[in-house]
Amino acid sequence: MNKPKILVACPIFDDVLAALREHFEVTDNQNGTSWTKAEWTQRLAGHVGALTVGANPVDAEVLAANPQLRIVANMAVGYNNFDVPAMTAAGVLATNTPDVLTETTADFGFALLMATARRMAESEHYLRAGLWQNWRYDMFAGAEVHGSTLGIIGMGRIGQGIARRAAHGFGMKVVYHNRSRLSAELEADCKARYVSKEELLKTVDHVMLVVPYSAESHHTIGAAELSLMKPTATLVNIARGGIVDDAALAVALREKRIAAAGLDVFEGEPAVHPDLLTVPNVVLTPHIASATIKTRRAMAQLAADNLIAYFTQGQAVTPLNTVTGRPA
Ligand code: 8YV
Repeated sequence: MNKPKILVACPIFDDVLAALREHFEVTDNQNGTSWTKAEWTQRLAGHVGALTVGANPVDAEVLAANPQLRIVANMAVGYNNFDVPAMTAAGVLATNTPDVLTETTADFGFALLMATARRMAESEHYLRAGLWQNWRYDMFAGAEVHGSTLGIIGMGRIGQGIARRAAHGFGMKVVYHNRSRLSAELEADCKARYVSKEELLKTVDHVMLVVPYSAESHHTIGAAELSLMKPTATLVNIARGGIVDDAALAVALREKRIAAAGLDVFEGEPAVHPDLLTVPNVVLTPHIASATIKTRRAMAQLAADNLIAYFTQGQAVTPLNTVTGRPA
């Protein structure tokens, strides 16, 4: 019997690829070639399943060009590259990789907060450039992290993980804003208090963005929001590009209207707004919040398991929608 054909659109671990080959005829992209949307749409031809990352959009256009497609497994918890209603209407199952990356990503959010508040990147560049000649009391003096107030926008699993680190590990006061309020038990566990977005922005020392990207969350932080923040405040974005208006942020950083920012995600990434590359008070990382070997392996494995379970048992492990089969 012919094996179903799947397209693995990104490089993954060799053993995960080998496990997929036991069940599928696999087209891989182990050299990580970037495809335009037109190239990706064309490459999908003839494949009934795909393993994707954020760079691979699945919308009505891609679906219309690929009526054979049955399932797309995203190797990410975020799935703003999917138009889930369009996938459901087309009878295409969508899956993501929740839970396996929560704590690793929360670790990174906290690391980026520390690096930003304590000016680690800026001071390292100074040292590497051979500029360190003497000690000064105010050399790269930054903002306090322990005991300060953290405001988290987006209080899902990762936001809660960051809140626990902040409250229990660093004695920080934690406030949050979210579409819906957490249960009293979860609020107590995270030691976090619900506030309006405006109160959060006006009062906290550090703002952490962990909100999923959608049309509603586009530019959650723009010029108006930045102007509410304290001039000593830091901003950290580990959510998605587009949650922050990067051009407005670059202006606020240059004019020192906020103290510093830490960014793991960018509007239009892998391109980075050129003004962010020239301001000193920003720490920039290339979308690596979930990047430990253990976690990336777990993400790849879960995405692969979704494809295997769907084709062998008719049910995925972590589905995002319910489909009844693709209409003819
Ligand atoms: C991914 C992420 O590595 O899971 C997510 O939503 O942002 C990262 O963990 C990245 O999106 C690759 O798809």
